Amino acid sequence: MKIKPTKTTAVSPANIAFIKFWGKKDPKINLPYNNSISMNLSNCRTTSTVEFISSLTEDEVVINSKRVDENVSARVSVFLDIIRQWSGVKTKARVCSVNNFPSDAGIASSASAFSALALAGSRAAGLNLSLKKLSILARMGSGSACRSLVDGFGEWWKGTNFDNSYAVQLAKPSYWDLVDVVAVVSADKKKSSSTEGHGVAETSPYFTKRVANLPKRISALKKAFKSRDFDEFGRLIEEEAIDLHVMAMTSHPPIFYLTSGTFAVIEKLKELREKNIKGFFTMDAGPNVHVICRAKDAQTINRTLKKLACVKFTIVNKPCRGTRSTDKHLF
Ligand code: DP6
Repeated sequence: MKIKPTKTTAVSPANIAFIKFWGKKDPKINLPYNNSISMNLSNCRTTSTVEFISSLTEDEVVINSKRVDENVSARVSVFLDIIRQWSGVKTKARVCSVNNFPSDAGIASSASAFSALALAGSRAAGLNLSLKKLSILARMGSGSACRSLVDGFGEWWKGTNFDNSYAVQLAKPSYWDLVDVVAVVSADKKKSSSTEGHGVAETSPYFTKRVANLPKRISALKKAFKSRDFDEFGRLIEEEAIDLHVMAMTSHPPIFYLTSGTFAVIEKLKELREKNIKGFFTMDAGPNVHVICRAKDAQTINRTLKKLACVKFTIVNKPCRGTRSTDKHLF
């Protein structure tokens, strides 16, 4: 359905994957090998305003008040081209985005960025897309972005083609009082992006085994989620995180995302668990540790981790709703 093309702003959360997207079956359309499961993060959000303007000769992309470099600009333009193709709009666009979390925190912002851009960009071009279509569009920008569209907890169905690979809601934000305390141990830009990691994933001798084993782990995780069995849930997300990093470290060339800071946080979590304060770790393509805990333990865990010399700062997140539009434009 068409709407009037108009400047549009969207706000969207990043998400943390409990079951990870790793390896692309078809990199051109970001088709994954496996389903993935995630939770939206209330305190890691991108706001993005898009307007198609006839006087522009090229797309203008500003993130956190700075004109982006050529690589980022090209990635955004390729994404805008899809919107132009779908809508018939021919003009270039002005895109302005801000993150509410420190952009140098080393936390993946591509999920929040491309989900916000999918909603803001499509509406700005006069498209009124369904949630499914928005998820497919966001996936084309960055695979994990397709999960940020839905509220709360989401599952990305791997699908088999362009049209059937998208995310659906697993549960509302209020379903479970989980908290993600992100312990930021490095704020540096990582040396290997997740896109590079996906590119070499299949070269790990363990990759085929991972893909074959995943359906079992996914059903076990869904069962634990359904019965809110936190111990089992925690055990499974840790197993999955380790698996991802084994893949990365055994790829050609190997990729080492984890650092000594990552392991120091993990050690501390073990100590806390001995005192029955339960936090379970998961790491995406970077060294920062996402500590998943129940709301009752979040403060203690946050306070304890902040005291570690290797922890620069923490970000405390609850499950939250997905991508939404707002009338608070950035320009
Ligand atoms: C480890 O979605 O960032 O965070 O599609 O190349 O942008 P691109 O990859 P991206 O990969 C995410 C990898 C991960 C796991 C996950 O979020 O599922």
